[in-house]
Amino acid sequence: MPGLNALRRGIPLLSAALLAACDAPQNFMTGGGPGAAELAWLGWFGLITFSVVTVLVWLLLIAITFRRRGSFDEHAPVDDDGAQRWVLIGGIAIPVAILATLFVATLETMGDFPLAGSEMSRDVTVVGRQWWFNARYETGDGQIVHSPTEVHIPTGQVVQLALESRDVIHSFWIPKLHGKVDMIPGETTRLRIKADEPGVYYGQCAEFCGVQHAHMRVQVVAHEPEAFEAWLAKQAERARSPTTAQQKRGQEAFMSAGCPACHTVRGTAAKGRVGPELTHVGSRRRLAGGMFENNPANLGAWITHAQSLKPGARMPDMKAFTGEELRAVVAYLQSLE
Ligand code: CUA
Repeated sequence: MPGLNALRRGIPLLSAALLAACDAPQNFMTGGGPGAAELAWLGWFGLITFSVVTVLVWLLLIAITFRRRGSFDEHAPVDDDGAQRWVLIGGIAIPVAILATLFVATLETMGDFPLAGSEMSRDVTVVGRQWWFNARYETGDGQIVHSPTEVHIPTGQVVQLALESRDVIHSFWIPKLHGKVDMIPGETTRLRIKADEPGVYYGQCAEFCGVQHAHMRVQVVAHEPEAFEAWLAKQAERARSPTTAQQKRGQEAFMSAGCPACHTVRGTAAKGRVGPELTHVGSRRRLAGGMFENNPANLGAWITHAQSLKPGARMPDMKAFTGEELRAVVAYLQSLE
């Protein structure tokens, strides 16, 4: 539809101007890729149309208030000449026209999914757990790479995400890249995303999934394609061996404290699958399903007080470590880049 296409070009320009000064990391009204841009233009189209209608209705109400003359007694019986026309035009014709236009615009937007015809990059599996997301990649030589809480993608390519759940229904939502798609136990749902620019796109679970639903966050990190391949190759490597005496003590404490029952550190005896893989935990931006920045202080607090920081999470409070052991474990994990 040519009229819609003209609007489609104009609205992003207008929205960019309006939002230049007040953009937020999870603002879906400014898309970072074609999927979200389609949804954003539909959002702006609806917002502007309904705002215009609201203003017109208020102007009419004000006009009527000031036009009121005389009393009901003077006008009895009440003269309703012309009222029918207002009802037919304002109450039926205009709403039908607006809703029909929005319906067609919605169909047009849906028709542009699911980003068909673009160059497809590799598939990535993202699994929802209570309460974190785990991205899983398969490298060219069959190596499986896990990236908890961070989904890394190359820019300029369509990436197909296979969405799964291990426990309850979650919903994967990166507002700047696409709409919400549920993660359903026993099913695989799919979502295709494409990021135009390198950067970090923030998102979170959008389906209530238990007490820590609000702390189930995810970041999509978009790299230039070569940088993405370098990231994947680095992640496919086994964990670094400890290089300092403190890191060695930390590894010993980690291995003897029961951590390997839940966590994997590839290249060591730790092969647990309950919690996030820690092979490259030192390179991650955030901890605890995206709640905290990854730094030594937060990591130490998370190890000893997970149940205070995120009650209900499956990570227990590891209170048995002495202060020296805890510092060593943190140093060891931070060295796993
Ligand atoms: Cu997972 Cu809400």
